[in-house]
Amino acid sequence: MSKIIRVLGIETSCDETAAAVVENGRHILSNVVASQVSLHQPYGGVVPEIASRAHVESAQAVVEAALKGQAPRGQAPFPKTLPVDVIAVTVGPGLMGSLLVGKVVAEMLAWIYQKPMVPVNHLEGHLLSILPGNPDLEPPFLALVVSGGHTELVHVLDYGRYHILGRTRDDAAGEAFDKVSKLLGLGYPGGPAIDRLAAKGNPKAVAFPRAFLADGWDFSFSGLKTAVVYHLRDHPEILATKKKVADVCASFQAAVTEVLVKKTIAAAEKLNLRHIVLCGGVSANTALREAFAEHHKKHRVHTAAPALCTDNGVMIGVAGYYKYLRSAKKRFSPDALSVDSTLALKNW
Ligand code: KG4
Ligand code: ZN
Repeated sequence: MSKIIRVLGIETSCDETAAAVVENGRHILSNVVASQVSLHQPYGGVVPEIASRAHVESAQAVVEAALKGQAPRGQAPFPKTLPVDVIAVTVGPGLMGSLLVGKVVAEMLAWIYQKPMVPVNHLEGHLLSILPGNPDLEPPFLALVVSGGHTELVHVLDYGRYHILGRTRDDAAGEAFDKVSKLLGLGYPGGPAIDRLAAKGNPKAVAFPRAFLADGWDFSFSGLKTAVVYHLRDHPEILATKKKVADVCASFQAAVTEVLVKKTIAAAEKLNLRHIVLCGGVSANTALREAFAEHHKKHRVHTAAPALCTDNGVMIGVAGYYKYLRSAKKRFSPDALSVDSTLALKNW
């Protein structure tokens, strides 16, 4: 029987303090997330200083709860023996102060308990977040990462071998959702708010532009966002009627969805890849999931449970496991462990 390796995944790159224990990259033993949404809501977006302070306040309880496989219950001391073999932590991309908190917590645990520590790229975490619950899914596959900070179409050739086919040239898809939500007075985070209201609206009410950028696999969402700005400027009465706001939500969402789906399916056909993985916070979107599901016969489209689409510790535990396997013989140098707020997805 192969050896069981349990990885503690720690994720603090943005506004969720998260930790999880994952066995052999596929089996979730615990998953704890302390959301900071209520702290940032009054400001309409994530405030970096508030985020790092909140990580400091909840990191110990979250990690403790994950190690015990339960929800946070306060500031109990860490167990005498750490029930994991490896500690994986997000080292970028993300907010500098937030990343540093996770890294220091991971470093402290690794030093005290003498466990190996593995640095994980947040985007690699999203790419592999689909693996728990999918015992047979292995690279190669095509992945669409759609989050608050990134929109990237990635050919996952193998674990640790990623070829970025295209990315957004301006706003990320989630960023567009958040900005449009703000314009419509729906607050933060915008994606779930638009998703809910769009269900009551007409996706054909407003013909917003679709930027297909025919010269490759890149995306662009800033033109669509500007089109929403002009539409609201020309029709200010919309904001007074919930049904009309719902129509704008549905029409905006339809424009984002159509571009994401058509480009991803076209790339899968061109590369002859049957498996498509949707990941990142926006992949929780109902319309996007439904639109991809229509292509299910020809392409096997994989979406994780919504809780694994947004930031979490499981994805870091999964990516950390595969990274540990391919680098188990060497210890990570201090350089590899330094945090980098702009870290790109790379092969390492
Ligand atoms: O992956 P994630 O949790 O954090 C980053 O790595 O950025 O993604 C957060 C983004 C936010 O922009 C949020 O509005 C969006 O994901 N999001 C959604 C939905 N749930 C979260 N966007 C559309 N529909 C949703 N249901
Ligand atoms: Zn993320």
